Amino acid sequence: MTKHVDIDGVRLHLATPDPSRGEWIGQSEVLKQLLACWLTVDDADLPLAPRVTGPPGIGKTTLAMAGARQRHQDLYVYQCTADTRPEDLLVTPVLSDEGRIRYHASPLVTAMITGGICVLDEGNRMNEKSWASLAPLLDHRRYVESIIAGITISAHPDFRCAVTMNEDESTFEIPDYILSRLQPTLSLEHPSREDELAILEYHLPFADVEILNLTVEFLQQAHELKLDFSTRDGINVLRYTLKRLASDPEHPLSRDSAWAEAVIGCLGEDALDLQSLAARKQVSLGGNIVPMGLGDFFFAADDPLHPDADADADDDDDSDEPDEREP
Ligand SMILES: Nc1ncnc2c1ncn2[C@@H]1O[C@H](COP(=O)(O)OP(=O)(O)OP(=O)(O)O)[C@@H](O)[C@H]1O
Ligand SMILES: [Mg+2]
Repeated sequence: MTKHVDIDGVRLHLATPDPSRGEWIGQSEVLKQLLACWLTVDDADLPLAPRVTGPPGIGKTTLAMAGARQRHQDLYVYQCTADTRPEDLLVTPVLSDEGRIRYHASPLVTAMITGGICVLDEGNRMNEKSWASLAPLLDHRRYVESIIAGITISAHPDFRCAVTMNEDESTFEIPDYILSRLQPTLSLEHPSREDELAILEYHLPFADVEILNLTVEFLQQAHELKLDFSTRDGINVLRYTLKRLASDPEHPLSRDSAWAEAVIGCLGEDALDLQSLAARKQVSLGGNIVPMGLGDFFFAADDPLHPDADADADDDDDSDEPDEREP
């Protein structure tokens, strides 16, 4: 039986909190900034509803979840989509077994009523009409009006909210009057090498150190080249590599071929040659990048075993071909 509350004679059935345990590793400053947004420094003060922005798979949702956990408050996550309607965000009517209408509070409204934290995930996928229904909640008024249930719902003083937004193109323009209520912006960067290794180790503590390092090296190069491969991509590549290594104990794959297969399976063939991929991306921007291959993950540049070592030596003596690596 779900919990319920009565507001102005209307019974609202509440949502259940999110049970996930979002542990945040590294980048402690941005977590402090998020927690600062949710502080109130005086009885007359109000919390802020920040925007957490960054490319896909970088940890935006995890950060917001970790913030909620640190405050020991229940967490509710609402996944925003392009067709989210105001009633989906607030209160939805559902026909019950007895043929009566039951009103279901959304995760957002449940957090408002119970004093929880709501993460509006991927907020920039949502259209203006739905955002407009949240305008009074996101300023000093701290209430929403459910047209469907015919009630006004005020937020509990402990209610907190954050919105995550992806920096990609499949999104709506959020109107300025809403953006001005979603401040400050906390932008997430890709993690440092040390933090990224700690994140991968945390999620895959059973992975051996070589395979972890190989993946971190790959991710760090991708970040440096401004390619979109994220920590989540690294986690998936690692997971798949480990599964492929374990899948046939009779004829085990070599670690390197399992890893390369996982990169292709998760990220596509182009991902094995990050430098060329970046160079192609740069062409449209008019830039110039040194091409580099899969061998660079396994061998140092001056290693005689490096698959490109001979080619380089040839280039040095009698080849007439212009050296593509020269700017
Ligand atoms: N700092 C971190 N600490 C712990 N885990 C992390 C961290 N950063 C990323 N991760 C892990 O990386 C994966 C992707 O993170 P998350 O889902 O939070 O990204 P996101 O930015 O919300 O992605 P999307 O834009 O696709 O919603 C998750 O498995 C998450 O646990
Ligand atoms: Mg997310």
